[in-house]
Parts: sequence; C-alpha cells; structure tokens
Amino acid sequence: MATKVWATRVGLQKKRGLLGEMWVFGAKYHSPTPTVLFTVTHRVVWLAITSILEEPKPKPMAESSSLNDLKQMLADELAKEQLPPSPSLDAPPASAQKTIEVEGPTLFQDSVLWQWQREFFAQAGPEAWRGGIVPHYITSSSYLAYSYAQVVLAYQQDRALAGETAPLTVMELGGGSGQFTFLFLKHYWESAAPYLPPLEYVFTDVVQANLDFVAQHPLLARPQEHGLLDVALFDISHPQPLTLQGSDTPWLTEPTDGPLLVIANYLWDTVPMELWRFQEGQAYPLQVALSLPASPGQPVDYTRLPDLVLSYTEGKPEAPLHPMLTQLLAADFEGDVLFPKIGLDCLDWLNQQVQGQLLLLSGDKPQTEGAAPHQPLQPVHHGSFSLPVNFEAFRWWAQQQGGFAFTPLRWHRSLHVGWYAASHEPDHHLQRAIHQYLEDFHPGDQFVLKRAVEEQYSELTPEEVLAYVRFSRYDSKALRRGLATLMGYVNGYTEAMRQEILEVIRRAWDNYYPLGENPDLPFLIGSLLYEMDFYAEAKQFFEFSAQLYGPDEGTLANIKSCQEMMD
Ligand SMILES: C[S@@+](CC[C@H](N)C(=O)[O-])C[C@H]1O[C@@H](n2cnc3c(N)ncnc32)[C@H](O)[C@@H]1O
Repeated sequence: MATKVWATRVGLQKKRGLLGEMWVFGAKYHSPTPTVLFTVTHRVVWLAITSILEEPKPKPMAESSSLNDLKQMLADELAKEQLPPSPSLDAPPASAQKTIEVEGPTLFQDSVLWQWQREFFAQAGPEAWRGGIVPHYITSSSYLAYSYAQVVLAYQQDRALAGETAPLTVMELGGGSGQFTFLFLKHYWESAAPYLPPLEYVFTDVVQANLDFVAQHPLLARPQEHGLLDVALFDISHPQPLTLQGSDTPWLTEPTDGPLLVIANYLWDTVPMELWRFQEGQAYPLQVALSLPASPGQPVDYTRLPDLVLSYTEGKPEAPLHPMLTQLLAADFEGDVLFPKIGLDCLDWLNQQVQGQLLLLSGDKPQTEGAAPHQPLQPVHHGSFSLPVNFEAFRWWAQQQGGFAFTPLRWHRSLHVGWYAASHEPDHHLQRAIHQYLEDFHPGDQFVLKRAVEEQYSELTPEEVLAYVRFSRYDSKALRRGLATLMGYVNGYTEAMRQEILEVIRRAWDNYYPLGENPDLPFLIGSLLYEMDFYAEAKQFFEFSAQLYGPDEGTLANIKSCQEMMD
C-alpha cells in the first residue's frame, strides 16, 4: 500500500495538453512605464473536482521500486535529450539494401529535403517540443534565457544613458514552443528598472499552430493583455510585412525607426542553405541526390527524413558569386561551406525596414573553423534535421553594413551565440555584458557542465543538487532531474534543509513553462513534498497536476491523502 500511489501514477497513461484557462499568476505592475515585472510568484488553480476516490491513506516511500522507476524514467529522458552527434562529414556506409530514388541531383538549397523539413514542423506543431522530438534543452534553458536577458538589459541601460526613450522591439524568429520567450521575458522583466526604455516582443514562426500555442498559453497571457507581447506569422524565406495577430495590426509595412532586435535560436540550421565547394581556384555549387531504403508500405514523405541517404555531386562553377563567396575564392579558401543566403537576405530585408538599426542575437550549432573538408555533409536527424551554421556569414554581413559583430573566441560544439549590429559598436554596459555572459562563461559552457553533472546525478548529495539547480538559474528541468536524488534522502532532512528544498522548488516551479510533456513535473514534486510532510504544498502540486494532465485516479487519491494528513 505504501508505494501504491507513486507507482500507480508513474505507470499511468496521462492526459496531455490540458493547459486550462483557469491558471492565474501574480504580476506586479510598474508605473509610469508600462513594464510588467513578470514575477510569477503564485500560480493558483481552481479545481472543479467533485468526486474523489475512496482510498486508504497512501504514503509514498522514498526507497521503493517506484523510486527506481522514477530514476529509470529520468535516465531515459536524459538519454533522449543528449545532443545528437555532430553532423558526420563521412560518406554514409554503402548498403546492399534496395533503395528508391527520391530526388535526382538537385542544388542543395532547392532540394526536397527542405520541403520535408518544413512539412515536419508544420505537422508536428508544439508536439515537436512536447514529445521531445526536437532537441531544445539548450535554447530553452533558463540559463540561456537569463544570459540573453542580461545582454538586452545592458543594451537598454546604454540606450537610457544616451537619452533614448523609444521602445526596443524584439522579434523572435522561429520561436517554436515559446519556452524561451517565457523565460527570456520573465528574466528580463524581473530585473528591468523603470527608467529603461520599454521593451515590446513579437514572437514569430512559420507554423500557425506554434503561434496559437503561445497566444493561448496562460503564462504568456498577461504580457499579451498589456500589449507587450504579440505573435505573427513570418517566413524567413519570404520576408514581407506581417500582421500582429493579437492586435490585428500590420507591422513593418514600410521603413520605420528601429531599433529592432532579432532573436533566432536553432533556426538558421532549419531553413534552406547553399552548399559550396571551393577547390583549386573554383567555386562549385553542390547538388544532392536523395534516396531511401525501400520499405514497402511506408510513405515516401517527411516522416522518412531520418532514413534519407544523401549523395553529393559538384555542379558547374558559377559566376558571379555572392560577394562573401568571392572573398573566400580570392583568399584561396579550400573546402566545403554552408552558406545561409536565405538568412542574410532576411536580415537585409529587416534591416531595410528599420532603416539600418537591426541587431541580431542568435544561438545555433556552429560550423566550426576548419571543419570544411571536401566530404559529404550528413545532417543530424531528430524527426527534423539540422546542419551546422556558418556564423562567419553573419559576421561578414554585419561588417558589410559598417556595424559590429561579436562571436566568442571559443567554438562551442553544441551552441554558439553571437551578437551582431548593423550600425553601432556596443557601449559600455553592453560591452561588459557581452564579455560576461557570452564570452567569459558562455551558455555553451553551462551546457557542457550540465551534461557532466546530470550524468552523475545519482552520486550527488542533496546540497549539490540544490546548488546545481540554483546555478542553472532555477531551471525546472534541472530540478526534475534532481528529484530522484532528493527523494532518496527524504528521511534524513533537517528542518533547515526542508525549507531550502521548498524554496528551490518554488523558484524552479516559477520558471516552469508547461508543454503537457511527460513526465508530469507537478506530480513528481507533489510526491516529494508529500514524503517531506509538506502536505499543503504537496496538495497544491497534485492539484496542478490534475489541472495540467487531467484528474486521474492516482492524483486524486494523493490530493485526498494530503487533505487527510492536514486534517
Ligand atoms: C529547431 S526549431 C527551433 C525553435 C526554437 N527557436 C528553439 O530554439 O527551441 C526551428 C523553428 O523554426 C521554425 N521554422 C522553420 N522554417 C521556418 C521559416 N522558413 N521561417 C520561420 N520559421 C521557420 C519551425 O517551425 C520551428 O519552430
């Protein structure tokens, strides 16, 4: 009996995606600026649960087979979130298997590969993140969002010191699930002083279902109500004036004053890129041919992306070349280069619309220096696929505008972050923030440490788990990973330690952006708190769980148990 509730819940098929409209959260308001201090300190859930099942008082135990289930579940999840290996530069293994041709030699950027990619995101919508199909830990981490927020705050400080009062508009491209958006805005507004120029945020994506998810997400309702956040469809392959959907307002219809800060994470690697081979004083566009292992009964469409076999041939040398490629040729460069032409054209268009006042803050997997041998490039697959991004092209772009480009000296394999400005050098505060948050200790460094720490989680003490959650800027995923460890020590906590754990849980929970994903975080937290005899708090988390995942038997039984322990 003792382990029943815990075990039952872990094993249940959960209802998903019930982000009820009944969530409210506290927000402080600042006057005279319209800035919302986005402190999500209370999440209150009204429950309309009328029937609670009859169950004797269950009391989950720390050391139980279900704790092992939890550990296994978290280990599986961790394995799933491991970064995919770097794109292989080796040719695919020759296979004796029968294949079907999907596409003959086609210029890389025109390949059907990209249509399938787009189809994947259109079909998956938010499920791409809810189901963990697309890796997003890095770009949706509290640490990355915090770092970006500090850089933007510093830029705003410099603007305030220069007497600028016009709003800064942030336009996020390919925003996906909105998880980064939520964390960025929360960290930004928690620290924004009233004297800073206002900040307005436009979340964009090419998939309407992603916009709908963000527009309806309860944790993003408040800034939308106050006109500080809006959503808009935007296809970076075809940049054109947008409609802000919340306010039904046309935007960027004609050249207007900036500044406009574009944020783009894990986006450039998703959209068509050119691929060039520089060899013996010539530049050849590469063509790709696609085939699939024959698999009777299976469709030949985007669902087969992970099975595609790519083979490359050189096209005819071309002239005239893009000026950046001409420079490479003139410098006797030898190797293969991915060239984000669509990305640069999009930046050109946006920069024109804001009269040369464009800024770009972007994170992606980099094509590291020197990684350009004449070998076929194999994309990394994870439902969709990704390729490394040529950040040097963005540096080139900023410099061509007479602007400024910052990319860290070190190349992080999984995440490179750069700041690019079309028009100006950074002032004092921004310079310092770039140094501190994008160079000295980079979000990529945090990711390296995260992997090292989380592989050792079962060896950590509770103090170490708590320190790590704090270090990750109270990332709810870091907490989730540490719950099994905290549970394992549950019988020995001092009162001070109990309070510390509660405080860390409270802060990490405030950074939690529900996607309806598995595992059910509020249920897991509720179970730990129950074990720690925090019955009122545990009940609240079981109620969150019922609200988000549906009132299943185990959850309702736990709510009842908490109530009985409190009576
Ligand atoms: C790999 S996901 C990254 C999402 C999010 N930025 C993150 O870091 O988790 C790529 C996103 O780009 C969007 N996308 C794909 N093609 C696009 C295009 N042509 N224009 C704008 N967004 C696009 C997809 O819908 C998806 O949300």
